[in-house]
Amino acid sequence: MRLGGRRGLRWRLLPAVRVAFRIFGRGWNDFYAWMLDRQERHNNINRILARDRHVEGKDKGLYDISRGPVHAAFLKRHGLRPTDRFLDFGCGYGRTAVAILDYLEPGNYVGVDLSAERIRMCHEYADLEGLSERRPRFVDSTDNAMPYLEDASIDVIFATSVFSHMPMDQWHEVLEAARRVLAPGGAFILNYHTSGTTERNVSDLKDYYYPQSEVDAVFARFGFEAELLDGWHDDLSPENRDPLLRMVRLRLADGAGARAAAASEAAV
Ligand SMILES: C[S@@+](CC[C@H](N)C(=O)[O-])C[C@H]1O[C@@H](n2cnc3c(N)ncnc32)[C@H](O)[C@@H]1O
Repeated sequence: MRLGGRRGLRWRLLPAVRVAFRIFGRGWNDFYAWMLDRQERHNNINRILARDRHVEGKDKGLYDISRGPVHAAFLKRHGLRPTDRFLDFGCGYGRTAVAILDYLEPGNYVGVDLSAERIRMCHEYADLEGLSERRPRFVDSTDNAMPYLEDASIDVIFATSVFSHMPMDQWHEVLEAARRVLAPGGAFILNYHTSGTTERNVSDLKDYYYPQSEVDAVFARFGFEAELLDGWHDDLSPENRDPLLRMVRLRLADGAGARAAAASEAAV
């Protein structure tokens, strides 16, 4: 990313801010939440929708609201049922939420994001679309242990463009929590960047690429079997077929969520 002017200066200062957070004992999620909340503090859902309408091309990124229905269609094709209790991990501005809320039974959607400002915009977006009666639950939390969810209370977790921005110690915490909150037979659908080599590639502060062998070992260590979802680029990002971006569906090897977590705790 090339940024000039004051914005570029602020971006270049971020590594120093990250170090300061570390010195004061604050973790990655605290830093990331601080960074996003600063960036979003004057933003609102109407601005995002306006920008979505006026910016052409692939640089829209998270502002590309048309991705929401694409996410919903993808999830349905991969077995999401209206009765499923669904966790949208790293829900951003709520574009998946707004596209899926009418499909899910009321009360079955939980979206979590570490940015309080983005969660504010999820509420704005759901209200704007008249979806509040679907009872979405939006949670602002930096705690990867997911204390806001009970054991075995979720059937499908979806995390898109989240693990690709997470250091490995955060992967561990999230996978551990996913194992606890997934109901028996549940699935965790997520995408991540593989480095394509035997080395890690951490190119800047928020892009993390890991060797496939490391990723496989981590999924196995937390008791998950991974199924590569081939062809997902056709569904979700036809204009950006990054071969290093992979989508998988994880299932607990013994089919049980909370049960597996309790067993491993007892074994420690
Ligand atoms: C690139 S955005 C994608 C948002 C959403 N999944 C979508 O596609 O519209 C990634 C989001 O994940 C959130 N996030 C990253 N790590 C997280 C964590 N450990 N817990 C909760 N949210 C997280 C970020 O705050 C950010 O809003």
